[in-house]
Amino acid sequence: MSTIISLLSEKMQNAFKKSGYDEKYSIVTLSNRPDLCQYQCNGSLSAAKEYKMAPIKIAEHVVEELKKDSIYKEVVAIAPGFINITLSNEYIAKYLNDMNQSQHLACVLEEIPKTVVIDYGGPNIAKPLHVGHLRSAVIGESIKRIIRFMGNNVIGDAHLGDWGLQMGLVIAELKRRKPELSYFDDNYIDDYPKEAPFTITELEEIYPAASEYSKENPDFKEEAKNITYLLQNAHKGYTAIWNHMLEVSVSDLMKIYEKLNVSFDLWKKESDAQPYIPEMIEYLKMNNYTRISEGALVVDVKEETDNKEIPPCMILKSDGATLYNTTDLATIVERMKLFDPNRIIYITDKRQGLYFEQVFRCARKTKLIKENTDLTFIGFGTMNGKDGKPFKTRDGGVMRLENLIKGVTDEVYNKIMENRDMSIDDAKAIADKVGIAALKYGDLSNQASKDYVFDLERFTSFEGDTGPYILYTIVRIKSILNKYKESHNDLTVQAILPAITKNELNLMHEITKFNETIYNAYEDLAPHRICQYIYGLTNQFNTFYHETKILSEEDKNRQKSYIALLSLTLKVLNQCIDLLGIEAPDMM
Ligand code: ARG
Repeated sequence: MSTIISLLSEKMQNAFKKSGYDEKYSIVTLSNRPDLCQYQCNGSLSAAKEYKMAPIKIAEHVVEELKKDSIYKEVVAIAPGFINITLSNEYIAKYLNDMNQSQHLACVLEEIPKTVVIDYGGPNIAKPLHVGHLRSAVIGESIKRIIRFMGNNVIGDAHLGDWGLQMGLVIAELKRRKPELSYFDDNYIDDYPKEAPFTITELEEIYPAASEYSKENPDFKEEAKNITYLLQNAHKGYTAIWNHMLEVSVSDLMKIYEKLNVSFDLWKKESDAQPYIPEMIEYLKMNNYTRISEGALVVDVKEETDNKEIPPCMILKSDGATLYNTTDLATIVERMKLFDPNRIIYITDKRQGLYFEQVFRCARKTKLIKENTDLTFIGFGTMNGKDGKPFKTRDGGVMRLENLIKGVTDEVYNKIMENRDMSIDDAKAIADKVGIAALKYGDLSNQASKDYVFDLERFTSFEGDTGPYILYTIVRIKSILNKYKESHNDLTVQAILPAITKNELNLMHEITKFNETIYNAYEDLAPHRICQYIYGLTNQFNTFYHETKILSEEDKNRQKSYIALLSLTLKVLNQCIDLLGIEAPDMM
């Protein structure tokens, strides 16, 4: 189904043409005065210059043409030259009924599905997830769902960080503490123990301790570097420890991501790309893409049109070591080989923007990707505390994601217990869902690139532009529909009738904007547009609900139409929150 905007645009184009004006003036938009009309076209104002006529005359001619169509309740030319459009209530009702019947709520999916890899989450083994990882996971999950909903083949990859000095640091620290472990005995020939020599809690304590210790002890740092090197060259004992680190970390990470309702199709690791490196470097050298700069192997990526300095992309350091860049380029080679994607999307902190610019330019220039492979970087802003600085724990440390989640769900739990009489277990289960919604919605409702303030009180409020408010509305609709089902034996579904009140019409009109919203969110990879839409829709619904008798409506036809309208509202809201990666409980 076409969006209403594109349908009206088409009609407007015809009307401009038929009245003898260029169709380029026929742009239709949503009205910025919804109190006066639903849509508008301001093209006559610009056309007036070309045709040396009063804009209102042009508008009047076009309106005369438009009026031949019966879909409008009103279409008028307004001085100095606006065309104001309001659709007939019948038309809107028909649009909703068609939408209800259609497969994807009136969205037309990609005719030729694309293969899209989304690189998000980006957790690192042996390091706990902190709030910085929240945004990548939450935004990436939603973008993945939006692209998938539009009919594409999407592969979400966690791209686990398992390949840097951090590994060497952890192993060196472990060696310092427990030198007697068999992993450190070069003469040991038996199998290594199956059990890891540490728990996740220990592991997470070891890394920061090691990193701290290395700052003051150059020898230790050397040792860690050496271990990293040996590990990267398949040292038996270190590889065994590293495998333990992977296991212990990944199972812990999965638990937290599951809580967040975030799931990856792939758990590829930085180390998986390493085998592609030698051949890639050979290829880059052979084709003269590289040069030596102060001993390092680099690819120049600056372009004439640059207005800022874009440094060369470094492939190998002067000591021959590979870098984060090298791994990312090799990962591109790997992804091209495994999936041949049309597009790869990376979601990280926006401070990695310049870095990805270099990597993308390098991949394009050296033809590691195809000419039409699209590389997209989505950089997000920082989650700040109320003081406007990056969010910290009360004593100034980095907040672990797990603790942040717990803080939010506890707050919601307390709110639920305050005014409701509910069993502890029920309240806990609800608080889990609502808390995650509060956290995710609080994040997603901001344009990704902007910083935002984490405000526990506001995010968990049941009123205003918040996750709990949206869920509360969904639960309310579910409960009305359930009550209706319980008290009626005739559950045949009836079509939605044309609206008779203003609030009903507003709600119906808001629903028609679903496909347009999804297309915009898809085009811009912008979940916040879906948030804006559901907040508007939720408000329209609640206004309608407060002024309309639904369950006690006496006109049974009207009542059935209301029920159909509520069902459709629920379908749309459920679809939207699903695209955000949020789930609604059955009661609240
Ligand atoms: N592990 C990285 C970090 O914690 C993020 C990885 C982002 N993805 C990538 N392909 N570089 O910063």
